[in-house]
Parts: sequence; structure tokens; C-alpha cells
Amino acid sequence: MLRYAICVVVGLVIGFLVSTMLANTLQQRSAWPRGLMRVMQHDFSEARKAARGTQCATLQMAEAASRLRIVSGQLGPALLPAGSEDRVLAQYVQRFQDAAVKWDANADCPAQAAALSAVGEACEACHRDYR
Ligand code: HEC
Repeated sequence: MLRYAICVVVGLVIGFLVSTMLANTLQQRSAWPRGLMRVMQHDFSEARKAARGTQCATLQMAEAASRLRIVSGQLGPALLPAGSEDRVLAQYVQRFQDAAVKWDANADCPAQAAALSAVGEACEACHRDYR
């Protein structure tokens, strides 16, 4: 009887440890894409706010635009496990990169606002299917 109880307890402890390890691994795997998303979210929402104003050809905008471009180049590797292929996801990444490249941080506010709308649509298009 005691032996049985000990087996149950040991089984529970092992089960708990394994599931905790698994949860940690899964979380670490998504840390990179989620970190990238947070950086993009920050730059994107700040830029959108600024684009409603009158001064848009600023250093902050130039930095946000170049960061968005750099980060957008990491989306493929971050979202696709190495060696796997997903043509639809690749298309969303491509569409997003195209939109990001069209954002000219030297343009006037209305032009930047329009470019940022296109970027936002590309974010949402991918989220609709993959988030
Ligand atoms: C090619 C696909 C794709 C594009 C483009 C994309 N996202 Fe995401 N996004 C995802 C996926 C997939 C997740 C879920 C990641 C996860 O939880 O592991 C996500 C999650 C997020 C999250 C939640 C992060 C968290 O901490 O859970 C935010 C915020 C976000 N995206 C913002 C953006 C913004 C802003 C843009 C555009 C500037 C964008 N995303 C473009 C695929 C994309």
C-alpha cells in the first residue's frame, strides 16, 4: 500500500517537472518572435501618432523606419522553424517587407501616414491567419 502511494507521488512529481520543462521550452521558442513584435508595435504606434502631427521628417521617424526594416528581415527566421517552409506565411512576410520599404521617413506627414496605413494592413493580414 505504502509502495503504491510512493509510486503515485513520484509519478506526479515527474509529471509536474516534465510539463514545466515543456512549458518553458515552448515559451522560450516564442520569445524571439514576440520580442520582435513588441519592438515593431512600439515603433509603429509611435510613428502613427507622430504622422498625425505636422513635423514628420525627424530623426525619430528615420530611426523607427530603419528599425522596422531590420526587424522585418528577421520575421521569416523567427516565425518559421529552421528548415520548414510555409509559402503563405512567406507571402505575408514579403508583403510586410514591401510595405516597410515604402515608408519614407523624409516625406511629409500625410505621405508617411499613408505608408504607415499600408504597413498596419500588412501586420493585420498576417495576424488574421497566423497569430
Ligand atoms: C508575417 C506575419 C506577421 C506580421 C507581418 C506581423 N505579425 Fe505580429 N504576430 C505574428 C504572430 C505569428 C504572432 C504570435 C507570436 C507568438 O505568440 O508566438 C504575432 C504577435 C504579435 C503581438 C503580440 C506579441 C506578444 O507579446 O504576444 C504584437 C503586439 C504584434 N504581433 C504586433 C505586430 C505589428 C505592430 C506588426 C506590424 C508592424 C506585426 N505584428 C506584423 C505574425 C505577424
